Amino acid sequence: MSLYILVCILCLTNIVLIFFINKKKIKKFIYKSKIRKIDITEINEIFKLRNISENLRGPTQDVIIKSFSITSNNRIVGMTSDQEAWIIASLSRKSKNIFEFGTCSGKTTYMMALNSGPDTQITSLTLNPNELNVISKNSEDNKVSFRNIINESIYKKFLFTGDEVEKKIKIIFQNSLDFNHREYKGKIDLIFIDGGHTYSVVKNDSEKSFEMLKKNGIILWHDYVPGKRSAKDVVRYIDEISNTRKLYCINGTTLVYFKNE
Ligand SMILES: C[S@@+](CC[C@H](N)C(=O)[O-])C[C@H]1O[C@@H](n2cnc3c(N)ncnc32)[C@H](O)[C@@H]1O
Repeated sequence: MSLYILVCILCLTNIVLIFFINKKKIKKFIYKSKIRKIDITEINEIFKLRNISENLRGPTQDVIIKSFSITSNNRIVGMTSDQEAWIIASLSRKSKNIFEFGTCSGKTTYMMALNSGPDTQITSLTLNPNELNVISKNSEDNKVSFRNIINESIYKKFLFTGDEVEKKIKIIFQNSLDFNHREYKGKIDLIFIDGGHTYSVVKNDSEKSFEMLKKNGIILWHDYVPGKRSAKDVVRYIDEISNTRKLYCINGTTLVYFKNE
């Protein structure tokens, strides 16, 4: 009998271990993306590859960017991955008017500024760490995402502060739910939605973005990760609108892409 119990315990331990080791793979299997996954080289022509030789293809000049990386000992919160930043920076090169929801440390804002033309205007909207009382959780909002808004609203100076490119950047410290986007309507070439990840904020930022976008303008959402608790509301909103909007999830990233064609 005791041998039987021991075998049961061992089997259970194994199952739990296998689950934790393969958590990511299991989650990927259970939570499938509703959006078509596609390589960036297939959605936007600047990323098309150049034939170098029979067995080698590489980037064109359009996507060779100025870049930097943040090392893990520099504990900056809420950032894009280097590949995501590369995609956004490359798209910034031909954008005159750029808008970002959610500045945080300003990593992506900085990349946009470093890689866009001298007359490009970048506006980034973010919460003032001293005025977090302006936000409240809606009943439909995910708890973890709301907590992250507080945890990520900690910077008043940014990675680009003091750099020459700072003059291209305008920071608006405001709750995006109160943001009046009237003056931006139909004017923006590139929008990066990476502000609050609660349902009410993602919906608000996205609806305003669709109106702010120029013809052929591009919207990128960050953190489309089915199965990730803090991204639950982002996934829910994007899945909802995927029935009426042509959206693509970019392979190897958490970015969702939309072009106003
Ligand atoms: C994930 S971080 C942004 C990361 C940044 N885009 C980057 O790539 O480095 C989220 C940011 O959104 C801001 N944010 C969250 N909710 C907001 C709201 N309702 N209005 C404006 N900004 C908001 C936070 O203050 C924080 O700076």
